[in-house]
Amino acid sequence: MSVANGAVVVGGSSGIGAAIVESYRKQGTQVLVWDIAGEPDVACDVADPAAVDRALATTLDLMGVPGQLTVTAGVGHVGLLLEESVEDWDRVMTINTRGPWLVMRAMAKAAIESSASCSFIATSSVSAHLVDRSMGTYCASKAALSMLVKVAACEWAPHGIRVNAVGPGVTQTPMLGNAPTGSGWLGSVQDRTPLGRLGFADDIAQAVLALHELEWVTGQVLDVDGGLSLHSPIDAYGENLRLGFTVTQDQ
Ligand SMILES: NC(=O)c1ccc[n+]([C@@H]2O[C@H](COP(=O)([O-])OP(=O)(O)OC[C@H]3O[C@@H](n4cnc5c(N)ncnc54)[C@H](O)[C@@H]3O)[C@@H](O)[C@H]2O)c1
Repeated sequence: MSVANGAVVVGGSSGIGAAIVESYRKQGTQVLVWDIAGEPDVACDVADPAAVDRALATTLDLMGVPGQLTVTAGVGHVGLLLEESVEDWDRVMTINTRGPWLVMRAMAKAAIESSASCSFIATSSVSAHLVDRSMGTYCASKAALSMLVKVAACEWAPHGIRVNAVGPGVTQTPMLGNAPTGSGWLGSVQDRTPLGRLGFADDIAQAVLALHELEWVTGQVLDVDGGLSLHSPIDAYGENLRLGFTVTQDQ
C-alpha cells in the first residue's frame, strides 16, 4: 500500500534510513531522501538550521507536505564522560537531538499551515534507557530525543500530527564499522539477544513502516531489538547457562 502524499526519510542515504527508502520504493510510495552524504534528493545537514529550512522549501516544491516523515540521521560516539570534550558533546547533541527537533518542527509548521495530517518517526535507541559505559553523550542524546518525541506528540496531536520513535538495538549498518559479528563483543551481544541474532536495517524499516500506520498511537518509543533490552543485568539464569552449569529449580 503506497503512502498518500509521499514520504521523506532524513538520513536515507545509508543503513537504517536506506532500508526504509527501499521499502517505500518497493510499495510504490514516492520518497525523498535528505542527507549530508551519498546522493540524496535533497542535500541537508541537520546540524544547520538554515539548511533544514532550505530542504523543507525544496520538499514543499517537489511533493508538498509528506504524509510520513522519518528521521534516521544520527552519529554514533564513544567516549568516557571524564574524558569527553565539550566539542564532541555539542556535536553529538546537535546532530542527534537538535537535528531531529529542527526537522520535525519545520515539517510540523508546514503541516499545520496546510492543515495536513502527518506521521513523524524519530530514531532513538535502546541506549536512551540502557547504561553503557563510554557511551554517555550518545545515551544522553537519545534519551533527550525520546522525551522530545513525547512532548511533540502532545503539543501537535490537536493538529493531526502523530509523533513516535523507534529504539533500535544493535543493528548491522555502516555505523557499527567492520567489527566481526560472530565473535568478540558482537558475538556475545548476539548470544544475549532472546531472538538469537543482531538486527538488520530491514528489521528496523519493517517496524518504522508499521508504526507509521498505527492511527491511535502517538508519543511512543518502540524498541526494535530482538528482546536484547529485556534482560535484567543480574540474569543469574543466563549467566549459569553461559558458564555451562546445569540450571535446576533448586539452584
Ligand atoms: N546501527 C545501530 O546499531 C543503531 C542502534 C541504535 C540506534 N541507531 C540510530 O539509527 C540511526 C541510523 O543509523 P545507522 O545505523 O543507519 O547509521 P548510518 O551511519 O548507516 O546512517 C546514518 C545516516 O545519517 C546521515 N547523517 C549523519 N549526520 C548527518 C547530518 N548532520 N545531517 C544529515 N544526515 C546526516 C549519514 O550521512 C547517514 O546516511 C541513527 O540515528 C543511529 O543513532 C543505530
